Amino acid sequence: TLANSGRTMKYTAKTGSAASASSACLVVHRAAAQETADALGIGAQARLALAGTKNEVGAVVKLFREGKPSRLIMVGKDGGKDSGKEDAKKPYSEAQFRKDMDAAAGAVATLDVADATLAMDGFAVADRGLHWKARTALAAVSHACYRVNAHKSKKTPAAKLRRVSVLAEDRAAARLAVRQSQALDDGLAFAKNLGNQPPNVCNPTFVAETAQSLADDDTTVTVLDENEMAELGMGAFLSVSQGSETPGKLVIVDYRGAKGPPCVLVGKGITFDTGGISLKPSGGMGDMKFDMSGAAAVLGTAKAAIGAKLPIRLVAIAAAAENMPSGRATRPSDIVTTLSGQTVEILNTDAEGRLVLCDALTYAERFKPKAVVDVATLTGAQVVALGSPASALYANDDALAEALLAAGQAAHDRLWRMPLWDDYQKQLKSAFADMKNIGGREAGSITAACFLSRFAKAFPWAHLDIAGTAYKSGKGSTGRPVAALFEFLLNGFDGLEKPTGRS
Ligand code: BES
Ligand code: MN
Ligand code: ZN
Repeated sequence: TLANSGRTMKYTAKTGSAASASSACLVVHRAAAQETADALGIGAQARLALAGTKNEVGAVVKLFREGKPSRLIMVGKDGGKDSGKEDAKKPYSEAQFRKDMDAAAGAVATLDVADATLAMDGFAVADRGLHWKARTALAAVSHACYRVNAHKSKKTPAAKLRRVSVLAEDRAAARLAVRQSQALDDGLAFAKNLGNQPPNVCNPTFVAETAQSLADDDTTVTVLDENEMAELGMGAFLSVSQGSETPGKLVIVDYRGAKGPPCVLVGKGITFDTGGISLKPSGGMGDMKFDMSGAAAVLGTAKAAIGAKLPIRLVAIAAAAENMPSGRATRPSDIVTTLSGQTVEILNTDAEGRLVLCDALTYAERFKPKAVVDVATLTGAQVVALGSPASALYANDDALAEALLAAGQAAHDRLWRMPLWDDYQKQLKSAFADMKNIGGREAGSITAACFLSRFAKAFPWAHLDIAGTAYKSGKGSTGRPVAALFEFLLNGFDGLEKPTGRS
C-alpha cells in the first residue's frame, strides 16, 4: 500500500575504536574528538576547528577528509580535564544529551551520506546507561531523517541515510537497544505514513487494508463492516459513519506473542472530520485529515511490538469512519443506543470521536483485557490545556497511569495526568437519554474522558487525548504516542512478561 513509502533504515551495533569505524560519517563527543581526529590523521585540523568553535551542549563541528569516514561530526560540551571548571565535569542531564543527539542527527540528515556510526561511550548521562543512550540517539536519528514522500513527484533528497551503527563497548546492551529502536522506527514510520495520507486516499477501507499488512503467523487481522457492526448493536459508531459515502470499519489486529489476557489499544480513526451537520468552520479544516492519528498510533505500536517480537498478547483496534454532513447524516438531538445498551443524545455531531470509541471500548470487553488504552485526537480543549509538549492522560487505575507516565518520560513522549473526578460527570446529564455527547464549554477534554469512562468500567483503562501532540499543522504526523506506548509495552505491566537486559 501507499502507507509504506519504501523507506527503510537499518540499525546495527558495533564495538572497537571510533577511528576504525568504516562508515561514511562518524559522530563523536567533543571530549573524544581530538584523539579520534589524531588517529584519523586530521589532528591539526581538529585542533584548529575545536579551538575556533563553541564548546557547548548541542554545538556541532564538522570536519571532512579523504576515505572512510569522510565526515567527522563532533558534538557537545567538553567538560574534561582541560576545562578547569569542576562542575563542567558533571555528566549530562537527559535533556542535555537529547540536545546533543538532536543536533548530531540533524547534521547527519543534511549530509549526503548513506551510513553513519554513533560512538556512544564518550557521552555520560546521569542515571542512564548505554541502553537508554543508544535508544535515545537512534530516536533522534529516526526523527531527523523521516521525510513525507508518498505523493511528491520529486522525492525529497536528504535522508539518504540507510544504515546507522551504534558503537559501544557494552555490546549486549547496544544490540538490545538496536533491535528495539529498529522495531520502534518501523512502527513510527508506519503511523506517520498513514497519518500523512490525504483523506481521499486514507478512508476507512484504506486503514483496514493497511492494517492487513500486519498479519503473519502470530498476528490475525479482522475487519468488521457496517452490517456486522449493526448486527452487534454498535449504534453510536454507525451514527458517525452513516453520513459518509465511504463505509466505516472496525479493524482488529490480534498479536499473540504470549498466551493470556491482552493489553488492548483502541484508536480513534476518523479519516476526515468535517464535524458532520454541526459543520466545522472551513479555516484549518484540512488538519482534520489527522483525526485518524489515534488509529495510526495503535496500529504503529502493534507494528513495533510485532517487529520486536515482544512476549505479550496485544490487541489493537482501529475505529475507522468518516464524519460527513449529508441527507443521511445524524442530526443534532438524534438519540442512539450504544453497544453497551446505554443511550446517547447526540447534541453535537462534531463530538464524534467519543461515539466511535465508546462502542469500540465495549467491544474490547470480549478480550477480557488486562488493560485498555484508547488514543484519540479527541478535543480542541486538550490543545488549549496542554499545547504540544504533552498528551493528556486519564485513567481509572493508578498503577496503569503510573506505568504510562514513566514510559512517556523514558521515551520523551510525555503525558500529563488530568482528573476524572465524579464532579465533572454531571455535565453529561441529558433530559432525554442516559447521557449527552457533549459537556458544555467548561473542561472539554475532561468531560470527553468522562463520557468514555462510562464504557470502560470492566477493566483498568486509560485514555490519551493527543489532539495537540499527534501532528504539526502544515508539517505532518509526529507519530506520537507510539514511542510512549511501545515503551509501556516493553516495560511490562501487571504481570506482562518483562524482557531482560534493559538499563
Ligand atoms: N477531532 C476533533 C478534535 C480536534 C480539534 C482535534 C482540534 C485536533 C485539533 C473532535 O472531533 C472535535 O471536533 N471535538 C470538538 C468537541 C466539542 C464539539 C464538544 C471540539 O473539541 O471542539
Ligand atoms: Mn469532531
Ligand atoms: Zn474528531
